Amino acid sequence: GSDNLSNDAPSVSSSVVLTQDDLKKIAAFKAVEFVQSGMVVGLGTGSTAKHAVDRIAHLLRQGKLKNIIGIPTSKKTHQQALSLGIPLSDLDSHPTIDLSIDGADEVDPDFNLVKGRGGSLLREKMIESASKKFIVIVDETKLVKHVGANGAMPVEVVPFCWKFTQESLQKLFDYAGCEAKLRSTSVGGGEKGEAFVTDNGNYIVDLFFKRDIGDLKAAGDAILRLAGVVEHGMFIDMATTVVVAGEHGVRLMPD
Ligand code: 5RP
Repeated sequence: GSDNLSNDAPSVSSSVVLTQDDLKKIAAFKAVEFVQSGMVVGLGTGSTAKHAVDRIAHLLRQGKLKNIIGIPTSKKTHQQALSLGIPLSDLDSHPTIDLSIDGADEVDPDFNLVKGRGGSLLREKMIESASKKFIVIVDETKLVKHVGANGAMPVEVVPFCWKFTQESLQKLFDYAGCEAKLRSTSVGGGEKGEAFVTDNGNYIVDLFFKRDIGDLKAAGDAILRLAGVVEHGMFIDMATTVVVAGEHGVRLMPD
């Protein structure tokens, strides 16, 4: 249970039943082992990345890490890191980041990712693209054969005439049986509730595919060519390391 894992480096023991949150924490703690004093560190967003931010703050308090500068990937992470006393900055002041640590919604065998089901894809992509190393932390439920086949592929769009952009996206992926839905704040989603608004004041259109979308890079580039689109949640050729925690232990890919 989580109590065993609170502030010390957790370990996977066969006698304890680990929750999914324990696994997230194990992956996060493992990734933080790569953080060294003096680094500029991209701080991810979500329930997995949250554990990494906690851990960095803990090591700073203990004096085991010094002179870290955190670059938060969302307002939420900014708030968390601020409350924990992690010194913060931004990409304008630190255009090169040593290491970013963040979760993902899906990871394929080539380390292509789907991100943004938490809604922070734009800032995450800006910061993680500017990182020399990008460590992705997941529990094993996030591993997939093909990204985009298992749930929403988020696209951040400008609010102006979002229906036009939503329809353009759906038409673009007609060949893959795409359904494009505006993300709402209401439970269960749909277009009836209020639109979910990103940290950048934009909306999210979630794409659901019935069939394979084919070449991911080509699909991503085609999305970006649509006027009205700001960014998409496919993170291709960005992750340098994936830390996966499962019932049988934690492993690094590539090992
Ligand atoms: C937010 C993200 C998150 O990293 C992703 O949604 C994973 O979140 P969690 O760790 O809570 O499962 O991309 O935009």
